[in-house]
Amino acid sequence: MKVQAIRLGVNVDHVATVRQARGTPYPDPVEAALLAASSGADGITIHLREDRRHIQEHDVQRLLAESSVPVNLEMAVTEQMLDIALRSAPPHCCLVPERREELTTEGGLDVAGQQQRINEACVRLADANVRVSLFVDPEARQLEAALVTGAAAVEIHTGAYADAAAGAAQAAELQRIREFARDAAAAGLQVHAGHGLHLQNVAAVAMLEQIEELNIGHSIIARAMFVGLPAACAEMRQAMTLARRSLQAGR
Ligand code: PXP
Repeated sequence: MKVQAIRLGVNVDHVATVRQARGTPYPDPVEAALLAASSGADGITIHLREDRRHIQEHDVQRLLAESSVPVNLEMAVTEQMLDIALRSAPPHCCLVPERREELTTEGGLDVAGQQQRINEACVRLADANVRVSLFVDPEARQLEAALVTGAAAVEIHTGAYADAAAGAAQAAELQRIREFARDAAAAGLQVHAGHGLHLQNVAAVAMLEQIEELNIGHSIIARAMFVGLPAACAEMRQAMTLARRSLQAGR
C-alpha cells in the first residue's frame, strides 16, 4: 500500500520577531512566506498572538491576499481572535492555548477542560468555511474531547518529544505520539504535528504514517540565517521526504 505524502507547513513568525525587535519594516514575513512556498513549503503557518510580539494583523491580511499556498492561522480561542478569523476567513485555523508570559506555546490546548467554548468556536469557524485543527498534547482525553468539537484535524504538540533526552525518554514520548496519531486517524481526524522539530529529530515523526502535515518554524528560520531560507526549507522538505520513503521501503 502506498504511503501518503506528508506536507510541510513553514511557520514564518520569527521573521516577524526580528522585524519587531527594531520596529523596522524588514524583514517581511510575507516575503519569507512567498520564498518558502517556492522552496518546498506546502503551506504557511502564522501565529497572531494576543500580545502581537511577532505577526501583526496587517501581515495576516497581506499573507492571505498574496500566498500561493494555503495559510494556517494559529490563534487563541478569544472573542477578538475569533472576530479576526471570521472576518479574514483563512483556509485553515489552528486553535492553540496562549499565556502572555510564555516564550512559546508551552503545551496543548485543554479541549477537555473547556469543551463547550471550543465546540462553539469550531462551529463558528466551520460556518465560515475555515477548516479547524486543535493543537493538543497526545492524551486520550484530549482526543475524545477533540472528536466532540467537530474539528477536522488535530495537531499533536511534539514539544515534549523534542525536549526529551535522547534514549528511553524520547522513545516514550514518540510512542505517545504514535498511539495518539493512530487513534486519531482511526477516528476520522486528520493528523498534523509540530513544535520543536528540527533536522535531527524530524525523521522519527515524519515516519508516523498517519501524520499528514508538520508545522515547523523556529529551526527553519534559525537555519536560514546560515544557509538562506530556500535552502533551509528544501533541507527540511528533503528530510521529511526521505523519512516517508524509508517508511514506504519498509512495507
Ligand atoms: N504548531 C503550532 C500549533 C505552534 O504553536 C508552533 C509554534 O508557534 C509550531 C507548530 C511551530 O513550532 P516551532 O517554531 O518550534 O517549529
